[in-house]
Amino acid sequence: MKLQHFLWMSICAVATMLMVSSCNQSNPTQDMTENNPVIENMMARRSIRKYLPEAVARETMETILNCGINAPNGQNKQSWEIRIVDDAQTMDAIVAAMAKANPEVSADVIRGCFRGAPTMVFIANDLSYDFSVIDCGLLSENMMLSAWSLGVGSICLGSPIRFLNNISSVDPIWETLGFSNGYRPVICIGFGYADEAPAAKPRNPEKYRFVSVK
Ligand SMILES: Cc1cc2nc3c(=O)[nH]c(=O)nc-3n(C[C@H](O)[C@H](O)[C@H](O)COP(=O)(O)O)c2cc1C
Repeated sequence: MKLQHFLWMSICAVATMLMVSSCNQSNPTQDMTENNPVIENMMARRSIRKYLPEAVARETMETILNCGINAPNGQNKQSWEIRIVDDAQTMDAIVAAMAKANPEVSADVIRGCFRGAPTMVFIANDLSYDFSVIDCGLLSENMMLSAWSLGVGSICLGSPIRFLNNISSVDPIWETLGFSNGYRPVICIGFGYADEAPAAKPRNPEKYRFVSVK
């Protein structure tokens, strides 16, 4: 009788395990993402284009920058240079230099490119390394995701770059930014505390597919 009871319990236990495992297989994505703070953070990040006025504390920015420079990068060349501007006076000087170098565009339009983010990060890539743009992209994403996890919003900004790169290399603002020879600004990332909560833009899942030979 005792043996029969034990066998019956064992059968039930195995059946339960099989049922649980088949449930897991039927919806693996949901099980993997539920209560996963990394994935939740990644999926919740959005580009922020309206900010509260205060700059992000330098201590917080140090954490974000440290996450950035820990991104994967080709041959660990760290083929980036990063400059952080968190005061209005320096931003005004940069916008003025950009406006001078691009007289066909108004200073207001140029300022608008920065989306009002109170902390601006300028990233330059090493022109001598063919994967440096990718390195800078991965650095940027690490910064934006770590920022979001700390309650800091961000915006990746390509539009200021063309105006920025028209500034003459003898303009004193280049000395302020102080990028090394052979480096060129490739992207700006604005940071600050969000004053909006934009919805996610739709993504096209047909952009990816698994492939295999027949
Ligand atoms: C390389 C790059 C350049 C971008 N440049 C700008 C820009 O100049 N101005 C802007 O408002 N957003 C810019 N964005 C933000 C994109 O518009 C945004 O990431 C995209 O619409 C998806 O929205 P989401 O970030 O909220 O998911 C840029 C993003 C990337 C990756």
